[in-house]
Amino acid sequence: MGTKKAWPRAGTGLRGMVGERAVELGTPHGWRALDCDVTDAAAVHRAVARTPAEVVVHFAAFTDLAAAHAQSGDRDGSCYRVNVDGTRNLADACRENGKYLVHVSTDYVFSGAEETPYRESDVPAPRDWYSRTKYWAEGEVRESGCQFSILRPSFPFRARCLRREDIVRKIISGLTAGRTPPMFCDTLVSPVFVDEFVAAVDRVAELRPPEGLFHCAGSTSLSPYDLAVLVARTFGLDGSQLRPGRYADYERAAGRPYPRYLNISNERAARVLGIRFSPIEQALVTMRDQLGRAAAGTAATPPRP
Ligand SMILES: NC(=O)c1ccc[n+]([C@@H]2O[C@H](COP(=O)([O-])OP(=O)(O)OC[C@H]3O[C@@H](n4cnc5c(N)ncnc54)[C@H](OP(=O)(O)O)[C@@H]3O)[C@@H](O)[C@H]2O)c1
Repeated sequence: MGTKKAWPRAGTGLRGMVGERAVELGTPHGWRALDCDVTDAAAVHRAVARTPAEVVVHFAAFTDLAAAHAQSGDRDGSCYRVNVDGTRNLADACRENGKYLVHVSTDYVFSGAEETPYRESDVPAPRDWYSRTKYWAEGEVRESGCQFSILRPSFPFRARCLRREDIVRKIISGLTAGRTPPMFCDTLVSPVFVDEFVAAVDRVAELRPPEGLFHCAGSTSLSPYDLAVLVARTFGLDGSQLRPGRYADYERAAGRPYPRYLNISNERAARVLGIRFSPIEQALVTMRDQLGRAAAGTAATPPRP
């Protein structure tokens, strides 16, 4: 598994929450957007055939979980078509054009029924429609015959993003506005700082391991309530308003399943890719420092950690 000659990378979803940060951080070789609707097979094939990149990173997905749930069972719906058909189109085009595919999946492929850390050898059992389509997308990649790796990020969060909020920025917004919903104290999440996830994407694109599967999670698994306490402390916000919430109450109210314990092991990704996934306290401090430097005008975009 040696480092290969590097060319620009091509990506789908480069305006999304995660892909946009990959572009901001850049690579020595640059990014080329694959500007096509992934559900349009002919357009995907044309875009992949045209790109000079040897590596294609598939960030794009249908990510609205509530809208996905409303489409449950509908294989003509946009969630299935983007996540499953779109991934098949891209993987087929990568095979035909000899491109290496880095496919971005999710930790939601797991049921979350177990409290013990999920490893790459564990068998997925996705619980809702979004997660099922993401798991089937992994199958499309595996069966396509292209060269690939699959990365499963866990609750990626970043300092700034106008497009949408992540788990940490939602907590900051809630605390700032004094409107924090009850935070689960009986579930687990393993949020990854997006810059470290992008470092893992970069490393996989460099190494191009044969059929890699990597869990890209932060080095701390904790309840959202404990995360909110840490966020309040790190960002100097009023944590006294935080109230604990219960998983059972959420499932009753939301009417859709939620994987309860996403305690995700990053041991393999850290070892094989040589990435240091920070403990949450440290990642939050890095995020706060990035925001401070951006506010002070000393960095146009939050810099690398
Ligand atoms: N954010 C999370 O909490 C999280 C957690 C685990 C895994 N992931 C995975 O990480 C990846 C990136 O997520 P994200 O948070 O960056 O998502 P996002 O902010 O919702 O962005 C999704 C991107 O996909 C693109 N897209 C959607 N439909 C498309 C289509 N038919 N053709 C081409 N592009 C299309 C969007 O294009 P436009 O810009 O044109 O709208 C956008 O750039 C996804 O694969 C997601 O499943 C995310």
